[in-house]
Amino acid sequence: MKNILVLFASPHKQGKTAALLNIYLEQYLQTLNDSFKVDILPVFDQHILPCVGCNICIKSCICPQNKKDDVKKIFSCILKSNHVIIASPVYFSGFPSQLKALIDRAQQLYNKKIKSGEVRNLKMRTGALVATCGSDNKNSFIPLRECCKQFFDCLDVDLSSKLYAVNTDNLSNIKIYNEN
Ligand SMILES: Cc1cc2nc3c(=O)[nH]c(=O)nc-3n(C[C@H](O)[C@H](O)[C@H](O)COP(=O)(O)O)c2cc1C
Repeated sequence: MKNILVLFASPHKQGKTAALLNIYLEQYLQTLNDSFKVDILPVFDQHILPCVGCNICIKSCICPQNKKDDVKKIFSCILKSNHVIIASPVYFSGFPSQLKALIDRAQQLYNKKIKSGEVRNLKMRTGALVATCGSDNKNSFIPLRECCKQFFDCLDVDLSSKLYAVNTDNLSNIKIYNEN
């Protein structure tokens, strides 16, 4: 059984990112021989406090904020998954703030990796970035891809697929493409 987890970072459950996610899932699920379960986690509905750079996790590898919000639970869902998808719109050349807050909290996992001496991405699970942007500018996805890779490195997720849609603000001329 393959567990597929979607970190759904758009505030619009029926918007452009949701439509692109459906296209991705349709294609991806066809490649599976196993049975599967898809869980969609709406990041905007989660309680996620920001990293405040206290650096406590450098020594303890645990963020003090974990006791107060949903981040520990979300990381444990990711670690139980076989395929992790980030589905997100581009906001000012980055991820929407709620997802970025989650990503920054992975600093505790990064520090855990350093402490254990295993800083490589062990690629224990595969992952995908599914992203949309309003403009016709393919470069908009570069910072998202780099941020996603760093986040996935902390969680041993191999970023194996990227599906993008540009020009979503011009409905008659949306372009969808894969990046290798
Ligand atoms: C706060 C905000 C910032 C945005 N920044 C960008 C941007 O930097 N570049 C871009 O091409 N589109 C930008 N957009 C447009 C969205 O990326 C685009 O409309 C996206 O497809 C919306 O997806 P959704 O329907 O899932 O919300 C921005 C939209 C918002 C609301």
